[in-house]
Amino acid sequence: MKHLPLFFDLAGRRVVVVGQGPAADHRAELARSAGGAVFQLDTASAADLKGAAAVFVATGNLDSDTDARRAAKAAGVPVNVADRPGLSDFILPAIIDRGEVVVAVSTGGASPSLATLLRARIEGLLPERIGALARLAQTFRAQAKALIVDPARRRDFWRRLVDGPAARLVLAGDDAAARRAALAELNDARRALEPVGIAHIVGAGPGDPDLLTLRAAQLLQEADAILHDELVPQAILNRARREAELVAVGKRKGRVSWSQRDIEAEMIRRVRAGQTVVRLKGGDPFIFGRGAEEVDALRAAGLPVSVVPGITAALGAAAAVGIPLTDRRIASSVTFMSGHAAAQSGGGHTYVIYMGATEAASVRDRLLDAGTAPNTPVAIVENGTRPDQRVSVGRLADLARLALPHTARSDAGPSLIIVGEVAALAVTAGEPRLAKVS
Ligand SMILES: C[S@@+](CC[C@H](N)C(=O)[O-])C[C@H]1O[C@@H](n2cnc3c(N)ncnc32)[C@H](O)[C@@H]1O
Repeated sequence: MKHLPLFFDLAGRRVVVVGQGPAADHRAELARSAGGAVFQLDTASAADLKGAAAVFVATGNLDSDTDARRAAKAAGVPVNVADRPGLSDFILPAIIDRGEVVVAVSTGGASPSLATLLRARIEGLLPERIGALARLAQTFRAQAKALIVDPARRRDFWRRLVDGPAARLVLAGDDAAARRAALAELNDARRALEPVGIAHIVGAGPGDPDLLTLRAAQLLQEADAILHDELVPQAILNRARREAELVAVGKRKGRVSWSQRDIEAEMIRRVRAGQTVVRLKGGDPFIFGRGAEEVDALRAAGLPVSVVPGITAALGAAAAVGIPLTDRRIASSVTFMSGHAAAQSGGGHTYVIYMGATEAASVRDRLLDAGTAPNTPVAIVENGTRPDQRVSVGRLADLARLALPHTARSDAGPSLIIVGEVAALAVTAGEPRLAKVS
């Protein structure tokens, strides 16, 4: 290869043509069609040429051509001299111009006639509207890049676009139909490539980071984004990958919070974008955690989802204060229920009441109505398993009073109420256990 073909951006740049006549005019016209600011002179000095992007010389006279070339060299501007490759820094190829599509043919100056013949043959092969096809492709460049992440798939899309139905339509002159076809191609490519993100609905346990499951800890290290509840303490969030985006979606009294629907939409949006999303919930996602609704939403959207169980507050808090939720001597069953649920009576039964501390009086009344004895032991465990864990132990009749210190403070943490003989076994700092109820 004698010359390296390069395509020079002349838009808005000064181009000087030295000479008059058809060859000079042709060059002036070409430079103009590429957007150059063309100045045509009979002769030129170095001062005339300073700062130009290129100089075309076509005086038809060897001395004048040589002078002009010298001036161009002195000005440091690349020069082309018509029909004199020896005086030229660059040569002008035979050109096929179809707008965005330009084909340049060169014989390295050896045979301009051969270059012209080749150009005619190639021209015959090139559809007249090939430039319009290039323009169509141009309008999809940014979208295809953003939506089709995998380079091999993106190449497939481009191949289909320039050689498929959209291409045929644009070459036939139907630009609107071509655009619709190209959009359909893009949608197909995107659907086929739905990024393989995933949502993991992960139980964070009751708050002590050492009570995270191994899988939860691993996923915190893999996540692109962690959508976490208010219940999840900082000590656990600190275990997340440094680059993970932390999004607090928690529901907490007195604060604007995300609706369940918005949380689900956000998970879906991120998984669709290919992210590994960890939806981090206090305790276990399926114990008063609305985990099932999130699983349903992801499945309905056709997206992959997994559930990682966590230690639910009842287990964490009970263990932390030494309450065995069952004990074959005094309790043979246990019920986890929310503060809004009605209780049922039954000897030797343990109730674990979530979200009940703020409505302790009505929890008490419902348990009493259901036949639970007023002197049944109760324990309230706030911030179970966490460094700031607090426990109060008493009798069911006193539940409302016992709950007050756990709810009245502005920095009150989450609390569980445990009702039943076993509650008397709670280990409280410096306090004796309750006397066994006979
Ligand atoms: C919406 S429920 C979520 C329960 C969670 N999915 C679980 O499995 O533990 C929130 C309630 O859990 C209880 N809770 C959560 N963490 C607790 C903790 N560390 N100590 C005591 N109670 C806790 C409180 O009753 C709180 O109001």
